[in-house]
Amino acid sequence: MIRVTDLVKCHGPARILDGATLTAAPGQLTALVGPSGGGKSTLLRCVNGLEQFQSGTVEAFGHTLTGGQPPTQPALQKLRRAVGMVFQQFHLFPHLTALENVMSGPVHALGKPKAEAEQTAKRLLARVGLADKAGARPANLSGGQQQRVAIARALAVEPSAILFDEPTSALDPQMVGEVLAVMRDLAADGQTMIVVSHDVDFARSAAVVHKMVAGKVVQSGPPDAVL
Ligand SMILES: Nc1ncnc2c1ncn2[C@@H]1O[C@H](COP(=O)(O)OP(=O)(O)O)[C@@H](O)[C@H]1O
Ligand SMILES: [Mg+2]
Repeated sequence: MIRVTDLVKCHGPARILDGATLTAAPGQLTALVGPSGGGKSTLLRCVNGLEQFQSGTVEAFGHTLTGGQPPTQPALQKLRRAVGMVFQQFHLFPHLTALENVMSGPVHALGKPKAEAEQTAKRLLARVGLADKAGARPANLSGGQQQRVAIARALAVEPSAILFDEPTSALDPQMVGEVLAVMRDLAADGQTMIVVSHDVDFARSAAVVHKMVAGKVVQSGPPDAVL
Protein backbone atom coordinates (compact mmCIF):
# COMPACT_ATOMS: atom_id res chain seq x y z
CA MET A 1 0.00 0.00 0.00
CA ILE A 2 1.13 3.54 -0.77
CA ARG A 3 -0.54 6.21 1.31
CA VAL A 4 0.13 9.92 0.78
CA THR A 5 -1.42 12.12 3.45
CA ASP A 6 -1.77 15.92 3.44
CA LEU A 7 1.41 16.47 1.47
CA VAL A 8 2.60 20.08 1.36
CA LYS A 9 5.54 21.10 -0.80
CA CYS A 10 6.54 24.73 -1.31
CA HIS A 11 9.04 26.39 -3.60
CA GLY A 12 9.38 29.85 -2.08
CA PRO A 13 5.89 31.31 -1.89
CA ALA A 14 4.40 28.75 -4.31
CA ARG A 15 2.55 25.80 -2.77
CA ILE A 16 3.26 23.14 -5.37
CA LEU A 17 1.55 20.46 -3.27
CA ASP A 18 -1.20 21.84 -1.10
CA GLY A 19 -2.45 19.02 1.08
CA ALA A 20 -2.44 16.21 -1.50
CA THR A 21 -3.87 12.92 -0.25
CA LEU A 22 -4.19 9.63 -2.10
CA THR A 23 -3.72 5.90 -1.75
CA ALA A 24 -2.61 3.22 -4.18
CA ALA A 25 -3.61 -0.33 -3.38
CA PRO A 26 -1.25 -3.26 -3.90
CA GLY A 27 -1.75 -5.22 -7.09
CA GLN A 28 -3.62 -2.38 -8.74
CA LEU A 29 -3.04 0.15 -11.47
CA THR A 30 -3.63 3.63 -10.09
CA ALA A 31 -3.77 6.53 -12.56
CA LEU A 32 -2.93 10.14 -11.74
CA VAL A 33 -4.41 12.68 -14.14
CA GLY A 34 -5.00 16.42 -14.27
CA PRO A 35 -3.83 19.59 -15.97
CA SER A 36 -0.16 20.40 -16.48
CA GLY A 37 1.34 22.17 -13.49
CA GLY A 38 -1.03 20.50 -11.03
CA GLY A 39 1.79 18.82 -9.11
CA LYS A 40 1.66 15.24 -10.44
CA SER A 41 5.40 14.93 -11.09
CA THR A 42 6.24 16.59 -7.80
CA LEU A 43 4.00 14.16 -5.94
CA LEU A 44 5.61 11.12 -7.57
CA ARG A 45 9.06 12.53 -6.81
CA CYS A 46 8.10 12.95 -3.16
CA VAL A 47 6.81 9.36 -3.01
CA ASN A 48 10.12 8.13 -4.45
CA GLY A 49 12.15 10.28 -2.03
CA LEU A 50 13.60 12.43 -4.82
CA GLU A 51 12.15 15.58 -3.24
CA GLN A 52 11.60 16.57 0.34
CA PHE A 53 8.42 18.21 1.52
CA GLN A 54 7.38 20.55 4.30
CA SER A 55 4.56 18.59 5.91
CA GLY A 56 2.43 15.49 5.53
CA THR A 57 3.54 11.87 5.21
CA VAL A 58 4.37 9.30 2.56
CA GLU A 59 3.93 5.67 3.62
CA ALA A 60 5.01 2.99 1.22
CA PHE A 61 5.25 -0.69 2.11
CA GLY A 62 6.38 -0.08 5.66
CA HIS A 63 8.65 2.88 4.86
CA THR A 64 7.58 6.33 6.04
CA LEU A 65 8.75 9.80 5.01
CA THR A 66 7.66 12.67 7.20
CA GLY A 67 7.46 16.28 6.09
CA GLY A 68 10.11 18.59 7.52
CA GLN A 69 12.33 15.64 8.54
CA PRO A 70 15.09 14.91 6.03
CA PRO A 71 15.27 11.13 5.59
CA THR A 72 18.52 9.31 6.30
CA GLN A 73 20.40 7.86 3.33
CA PRO A 74 19.71 4.23 4.35
CA ALA A 75 15.99 5.04 4.71
CA LEU A 76 15.98 6.57 1.21
CA GLN A 77 17.74 3.55 -0.25
CA LYS A 78 15.19 1.19 1.28
CA LEU A 79 12.31 3.29 0.01
CA ARG A 80 13.72 3.43 -3.53
CA ARG A 81 14.17 -0.31 -3.56
CA ALA A 82 10.50 -0.68 -2.65
CA VAL A 83 9.28 2.01 -5.05
CA GLY A 84 10.85 2.19 -8.51
CA MET A 85 10.39 4.99 -10.99
CA VAL A 86 10.18 5.33 -14.77
CA PHE A 87 10.65 8.82 -16.17
CA GLN A 88 9.45 10.64 -19.27
CA GLN A 89 13.03 10.97 -20.53
CA PHE A 90 14.09 7.34 -19.81
CA HIS A 91 17.27 8.36 -17.88
CA LEU A 92 19.25 5.30 -18.98
CA PHE A 93 23.01 5.24 -18.37
CA PRO A 94 24.29 6.23 -21.84
CA HIS A 95 27.64 4.43 -21.58
CA LEU A 96 26.08 1.09 -20.58
CA THR A 97 24.39 -1.46 -22.82
CA ALA A 98 20.72 -2.33 -22.37
CA LEU A 99 21.76 -5.45 -20.46
CA GLU A 100 24.17 -3.51 -18.22
CA ASN A 101 21.51 -0.88 -17.55
CA VAL A 102 19.11 -3.57 -16.34
CA MET A 103 21.85 -5.29 -14.29
CA SER A 104 23.01 -2.09 -12.60
CA GLY A 105 20.43 -2.03 -9.78
CA PRO A 106 20.77 -5.68 -8.76
CA VAL A 107 24.60 -5.50 -8.86
CA HIS A 108 25.18 -2.10 -7.27
CA ALA A 109 22.15 -1.57 -5.04
CA LEU A 110 21.40 -5.15 -4.05
CA GLY A 111 24.90 -6.62 -4.25
CA LYS A 112 23.76 -9.56 -6.40
CA PRO A 113 26.43 -11.67 -8.12
CA LYS A 114 26.94 -10.57 -11.73
CA ALA A 115 26.01 -13.93 -13.24
CA GLU A 116 22.70 -13.97 -11.40
CA ALA A 117 21.97 -10.33 -12.29
CA GLU A 118 22.70 -11.10 -15.94
CA GLN A 119 20.23 -13.98 -16.01
CA THR A 120 17.54 -11.79 -14.48
CA ALA A 121 18.32 -8.93 -16.86
CA LYS A 122 18.09 -11.20 -19.90
CA ARG A 123 14.73 -12.53 -18.72
CA LEU A 124 13.43 -8.98 -18.17
CA LEU A 125 14.67 -7.74 -21.54
CA ALA A 126 12.83 -10.66 -23.13
CA ARG A 127 9.74 -9.75 -21.17
CA VAL A 128 9.72 -6.22 -22.63
CA GLY A 129 10.38 -7.63 -26.12
CA LEU A 130 14.06 -6.67 -26.34
CA ALA A 131 15.91 -9.97 -26.04
CA ASP A 132 17.80 -9.11 -29.23
CA LYS A 133 18.93 -5.66 -27.99
CA ALA A 134 20.89 -6.71 -24.90
CA GLY A 135 24.19 -5.43 -26.32
CA ALA A 136 22.87 -2.14 -27.70
CA ARG A 137 23.64 1.20 -26.08
CA PRO A 138 20.79 3.71 -25.56
CA ALA A 139 21.97 5.89 -28.47
CA ASN A 140 21.32 2.99 -30.82
CA LEU A 141 17.82 2.29 -29.55
CA SER A 142 14.57 4.05 -30.46
CA GLY A 143 12.72 6.02 -27.80
CA GLY A 144 10.21 3.23 -27.36
CA GLN A 145 12.98 0.68 -26.96
CA GLN A 146 14.83 2.90 -24.47
CA GLN A 147 11.70 3.26 -22.40
CA ARG A 148 11.16 -0.49 -22.41
CA VAL A 149 14.76 -0.93 -21.16
CA ALA A 150 13.98 1.61 -18.44
CA ILE A 151 10.94 -0.44 -17.42
CA ALA A 152 13.04 -3.62 -17.33
CA ARG A 153 15.60 -1.77 -15.21
CA ALA A 154 12.89 -0.68 -12.78
CA LEU A 155 11.63 -4.28 -12.53
CA ALA A 156 15.11 -5.69 -11.92
CA VAL A 157 15.20 -4.80 -8.22
CA GLU A 158 11.76 -6.39 -7.74
CA PRO A 159 10.12 -3.24 -6.38
CA SER A 160 6.81 -3.44 -4.53
CA ALA A 161 5.52 -0.63 -6.76
CA ILE A 162 6.61 1.32 -9.83
CA LEU A 163 5.79 4.97 -10.45
CA PHE A 164 5.54 6.08 -14.09
CA ASP A 165 5.71 9.82 -14.89
CA GLU A 166 4.26 10.37 -18.37
CA PRO A 167 6.24 7.42 -19.74
CA THR A 168 5.03 7.86 -23.32
CA SER A 169 4.91 11.62 -23.72
CA ALA A 170 8.46 11.93 -25.08
CA LEU A 171 7.84 9.23 -27.70
CA ASP A 172 6.96 9.45 -31.36
CA PRO A 173 3.31 8.40 -31.75
CA GLN A 174 4.14 5.08 -33.42
CA MET A 175 6.14 4.02 -30.32
CA VAL A 176 3.51 4.80 -27.71
CA GLY A 177 1.66 1.54 -28.23
CA GLU A 178 4.64 -0.74 -27.62
CA VAL A 179 5.35 0.91 -24.25
CA LEU A 180 1.71 0.94 -23.15
CA ALA A 181 1.48 -2.76 -24.12
CA VAL A 182 4.34 -3.57 -21.73
CA MET A 183 2.67 -1.51 -18.99
CA ARG A 184 -0.68 -3.24 -19.56
CA ASP A 185 1.09 -6.58 -19.31
CA LEU A 186 2.63 -5.58 -15.96
CA ALA A 187 -0.71 -4.36 -14.65
CA ALA A 188 -2.40 -7.59 -15.72
CA ASP A 189 0.32 -9.42 -13.80
CA GLY A 190 -0.61 -7.59 -10.60
CA GLN A 191 2.33 -5.18 -10.48
CA THR A 192 1.42 -2.25 -8.24
CA MET A 193 1.76 0.90 -10.36
CA ILE A 194 0.96 4.61 -10.16
CA VAL A 195 0.92 6.09 -13.65
CA VAL A 196 0.73 9.74 -14.64
CA SER A 197 -0.67 9.67 -18.14
CA HIS A 198 -2.53 11.85 -20.58
CA ASP A 199 -3.56 8.73 -22.45
CA VAL A 200 -7.25 8.51 -21.57
CA ASP A 201 -7.59 4.98 -22.95
CA PHE A 202 -4.80 3.81 -20.70
CA ALA A 203 -6.17 5.66 -17.66
CA ARG A 204 -9.50 3.92 -18.28
CA SER A 205 -7.82 0.60 -17.57
CA ALA A 206 -6.85 1.77 -14.05
CA ALA A 207 -8.62 0.46 -10.95
CA VAL A 208 -8.66 3.94 -9.44
CA VAL A 209 -8.07 7.36 -10.96
CA HIS A 210 -6.97 10.38 -8.93
CA LYS A 211 -7.32 13.83 -10.44
CA MET A 212 -4.87 16.50 -9.28
CA VAL A 213 -5.45 20.23 -9.68
CA ALA A 214 -3.35 22.98 -8.12
CA GLY A 215 -1.52 20.72 -5.70
CA LYS A 216 -4.58 18.88 -4.40
CA VAL A 217 -6.23 15.59 -5.27
CA VAL A 218 -9.69 16.88 -6.11
CA GLN A 219 -11.34 13.63 -7.18
CA SER A 220 -10.66 9.92 -6.67
CA GLY A 221 -12.66 6.99 -7.91
CA PRO A 222 -13.23 4.52 -10.70
CA PRO A 223 -12.31 5.72 -14.22
CA ASP A 224 -15.91 6.19 -15.30
CA ALA A 225 -16.54 8.59 -12.43
CA VAL A 226 -13.34 10.66 -12.75
CA LEU A 227 -12.52 10.77 -16.47
N1 LIG B 1 11.97 23.33 -8.58
C1 LIG B 1 10.87 24.10 -8.73
N2 LIG B 1 10.87 25.40 -8.42
C2 LIG B 1 9.76 26.17 -8.57
N3 LIG B 1 8.60 25.70 -9.06
C3 LIG B 1 8.55 24.41 -9.40
C4 LIG B 1 9.66 23.53 -9.27
N4 LIG B 1 9.28 22.30 -9.69
C5 LIG B 1 8.00 22.40 -10.07
N5 LIG B 1 7.56 23.67 -9.92
C6 LIG B 1 6.21 24.14 -10.21
O1 LIG B 1 5.31 23.29 -9.55
C7 LIG B 1 4.11 23.17 -10.27
C8 LIG B 1 3.77 21.71 -10.43
O2 LIG B 1 4.72 21.10 -11.25
P1 LIG B 1 4.68 19.56 -11.64
O3 LIG B 1 4.75 18.74 -10.40
O4 LIG B 1 5.73 19.35 -12.65
O5 LIG B 1 3.23 19.42 -12.27
P2 LIG B 1 2.65 18.38 -13.33
O6 LIG B 1 3.55 17.20 -13.34
O7 LIG B 1 1.26 18.09 -12.85
O8 LIG B 1 2.62 19.09 -14.67
C9 LIG B 1 4.32 23.89 -11.59
O9 LIG B 1 3.69 25.15 -11.52
C10 LIG B 1 5.82 24.04 -11.65
O10 LIG B 1 6.16 25.20 -12.36
MG1 LIG C 1 4.64 16.33 -14.83
